Amino acid sequence: MKAFYLTTAIDYANGAPHLGHAYEKVLSDVIARWRRLRGERVFFLTGLDEHGQKVQQSANKEGVEAQAFCDRVAEQFRSLCSKLLITNDDYIRTTEARHQEVVTGILQTLFDRGEIYKAEYKGFYSTRAEQFLQEKDKVDGRWPEIFGDVTEVTESNYFFRLSRYQSWLAQYVESHPDFIFPKYRAKQVLEFLKDPINDLCISRPKERLSWGIELPFDKNYVTYVWFDALINYISAVGYGTERFADYWPADFHVIGKDILVPAHSVYWPIMLQAIGVPMPKTLLVHGWWLMSGEKMSKSTGLTVDPLEVVEQAGPDAFRYFLMREMNVGQDSDFSREIFLQRYNNELGNDLGNLVSRLQNMVTRYCDGRLPASTLEDAPEGELKALWKTLCPAILSDFDNLQFHTGLEKCFQFIRAINRYVEVRAPWKLAKSEDTGDRQRLEASMAVISEGLRLVSTLLTPVMPNISSTTLQLLGALTPTDLSGLTWGSSLAGKTVGEKVILFPRMDA
Ligand code: ME8
Ligand code: MG
Repeated sequence: MKAFYLTTAIDYANGAPHLGHAYEKVLSDVIARWRRLRGERVFFLTGLDEHGQKVQQSANKEGVEAQAFCDRVAEQFRSLCSKLLITNDDYIRTTEARHQEVVTGILQTLFDRGEIYKAEYKGFYSTRAEQFLQEKDKVDGRWPEIFGDVTEVTESNYFFRLSRYQSWLAQYVESHPDFIFPKYRAKQVLEFLKDPINDLCISRPKERLSWGIELPFDKNYVTYVWFDALINYISAVGYGTERFADYWPADFHVIGKDILVPAHSVYWPIMLQAIGVPMPKTLLVHGWWLMSGEKMSKSTGLTVDPLEVVEQAGPDAFRYFLMREMNVGQDSDFSREIFLQRYNNELGNDLGNLVSRLQNMVTRYCDGRLPASTLEDAPEGELKALWKTLCPAILSDFDNLQFHTGLEKCFQFIRAINRYVEVRAPWKLAKSEDTGDRQRLEASMAVISEGLRLVSTLLTPVMPNISSTTLQLLGALTPTDLSGLTWGSSLAGKTVGEKVILFPRMDA
């Protein structure tokens, strides 16, 4: 059976990871974990984009070999993945032999078929974007800030016949509404395809840039970094071998909006079409993390170090924040204030306190043993009914990548459990001699713990460690599927675990 195959962009190896990189990995990981719970076999790929001028320049600046520089950066990115609890199945680096062989093979095939030709080129080049520019890329007669320094170059190069495929691509995008998520981003691609597109320059003369994959048909050139990098999506899963069919077509290429046009929506589909490989199913395009309204990026120096936040707040809280705050596809602002607000209010007060309260009450009133529920009055019935309507809505939100609203609903339910605690006031019931009150007390412990079990199950893809800890405290197992989502799995008789503080308070 074909795996559910998802990829992230492979990060440029020219500097340390920032929040934007962390987000893309967390988003992809949440999707991967969610699909696994849904019963799918998932293959999740991420990796590092190591060639090109930017990387060579960064290595030069430090006076180290490009490969050694990349090795160090790869360690940094991989360690970030592990600290963020990312469950990728593979990590591809474009300097690996398995990748270079595939790139070389594809170049030779395209050259042999006349899809690649040599010509003189004169024009403008942006190193920051690693791309050639056209007059039409100017805004008000100037190169926009995102291109950094732009220089004029004249040189002989090899070109890939993109323009041949222009009308095919426009038609493909128009007739496949699921090719780009969110759908409104397809407009940008069609807009780009309105004017004639140029063939793609896929080489760089070695005298200008040596850090790349050598062209198999001309040793004086290396491959353009984008042409090289995009191929990671197929080189990592055995393109050219039998096992390739177990993965391809990719279900999601998760990318940021800055690399949709032209790289992922023009170059990549045309490259695939030219070598006869089917299109990926969906380009999942997320927005940008901003700081005071400006894009966070290595090039501008405006960054948040994800490791710092993770160290202070833990990976689960960080993941929760990223998924709760950003509506996939749109931009969001990151600030310490917004982070602390969600951390202290939603995670600390709503969830963390509820868990420690339950633990405390069961220990004091029930000798640490979760009782069976033998009663269902209005408050219990209401909570149960709320779960019955919220649960399918959360499933549908998660299926449709609406994690921010899905999580909002999870916390709507958590707050309802908190209100239930206030209504039942178990501490009062505990003082009563009445047998009815004793029954109500026990029912309330059972209901609170069942509610927590259910919501923790759905929080698992976003907060894997916290969910496991909570479930363990209730004597329940970490879920491996979604079979436990109906109210009433009996936790009766389980011993509650030791007191835990899930989210220690953080000050400004
Ligand atoms: O573009 N907010 O690498 P990269 C959200 N190597 N996402 C952001 C972001 C921000 N502020 N800044 C960057 C590259 N990203 C190429 C990709 S794929 C074959 C080659 C996202 O390190 C960005 O949109 O500049 C991209 O998806 C990823 O981080 C890597 O960016
Ligand atoms: Mg970038």
